[in-house]
Amino acid sequence: MSPVFSGPPGEIPVGVIETPRPRRLAVYPGSFDPPHNGHLDIIQRCLSVFDEVLIAVLVNEEKAPLFTIEERQEMFGEILGDNPRVRVESFSGLLVDFMDRVGAVPIVRGLRALSDFDYEFQMALMNRRLNPRVETLFMMPKEEYSYLSSRLAKEAFSLGGDISGLVPASVLARLRRKMPNRPGV
Ligand code: PNS
Repeated sequence: MSPVFSGPPGEIPVGVIETPRPRRLAVYPGSFDPPHNGHLDIIQRCLSVFDEVLIAVLVNEEKAPLFTIEERQEMFGEILGDNPRVRVESFSGLLVDFMDRVGAVPIVRGLRALSDFDYEFQMALMNRRLNPRVETLFMMPKEEYSYLSSRLAKEAFSLGGDISGLVPASVLARLRRKMPNRPGV
């Protein structure tokens, strides 16, 4: 990075003033219905590489999500608190158009197992075809979350399974409120 001194001519700089580098931003998109610990693991990993993470929650009403878009955004607020390095926004339509609106930054996707690869590979290439400015980066969550998905967490919970340790406590509390009559309660 080039040192810059912008003081009056003839004055000797006391220290080196660095030009500020742009903040590195990653977009982490998904349905997050609901967020689980595998998602949080990826967010932590993003924060170790990027300055800021923008969680982009898909408005997918046609898929009949369990949680509304507002609830999914609120859940991230409850889990992450006021972290100035994390933002949560919703989007609809093409992800690559959303990417253009926020600036050309990478999409980060979690890769849990080989079974994810085919779908993720196709999506990454289609996104790049639609918008060559967009890159996709993959990150692997902790092995203990490699089988975890929102769909399985919801299914196990709805049938009376114990999913503590797989979703944050606040998500578990919201699931209990959504499904008060599940078996074993
Ligand atoms: O958590 P998910 O459901 O696996 O996330 C999928 C998501 C939101 C990344 C994907 O469905 C998406 O980007 N949807 C927006 C529409 C779009 O751009 N589709 C990709 C064209 S290949």
